[in-house]
Amino acid sequence: MATLLHLDSAVFPQGSASRDVTAAFVEAWREQHPDGEVVYRDLAAEPLPHLDASAVVAGAEDALRAELAAELASADAVLIGAPMYNFSIPSTLKAWLDQVIIVGHNAGPDSPVAGTSVTVVASRGGSYAPGTPREDFEFVQNYLEKVLTGMLGAEVDFIVPELTLAHSKPEMAELIPLADASRAKAFTDAEEKAKSLAVRLAG
Ligand SMILES: Cc1cc2nc3c(=O)[nH]c(=O)nc-3n(C[C@H](O)[C@H](O)[C@H](O)COP(=O)(O)O)c2cc1C
Repeated sequence: MATLLHLDSAVFPQGSASRDVTAAFVEAWREQHPDGEVVYRDLAAEPLPHLDASAVVAGAEDALRAELAAELASADAVLIGAPMYNFSIPSTLKAWLDQVIIVGHNAGPDSPVAGTSVTVVASRGGSYAPGTPREDFEFVQNYLEKVLTGMLGAEVDFIVPELTLAHSKPEMAELIPLADASRAKAFTDAEEKAKSLAVRLAG
């Protein structure tokens, strides 16, 4: 039985590109895994506490950190909704990462997460694609790729619905066709990724 760990972190429960696309991914996942389990955390609705000194010292002996690390280790695949806030990830997602990454327990060469597929839906109001003026301000994909591969040895893929503010900002009106195309591609990518994961996990 395959288990998917699904995290959302967008502050808005409705009208969120990352939530819409992760939901589409989960729907496709469930079609492939009718007996599978989806473990869900809404990090915005139920934020985890910031890591504090006692939790750092306790490491895997801390009850919450142990619970989160076990949840991650037992996931066959992970799905993360990660909107861009101030060029970076939501602080609630950073809190999850700080709690769940435990050096000497799941971080390092023998990580139980090594090889686990992590799909990140990285929504953003603008575009930070290579060649765009704000390329150097991209600290969502650049950060998550480094921390998830570098600390946990995960295999990370990104789905990027971008220019999401084009419909609400008049100065971005000419970008609406690109925004719509990006959103459509994100749904297609989510469905394809969920299906290809099913094949991989079955093998
Ligand atoms: C607090 C906050 C900060 C944001 N900062 C940025 C930013 O730095 N760059 C950007 O392109 N969009 C930024 N946005 C816009 C969001 O990235 C955009 O609305 C995105 O679609 C939000 O994700 P969601 O649709 O999954 O909820 C920000 C939005 C909020 C609420």
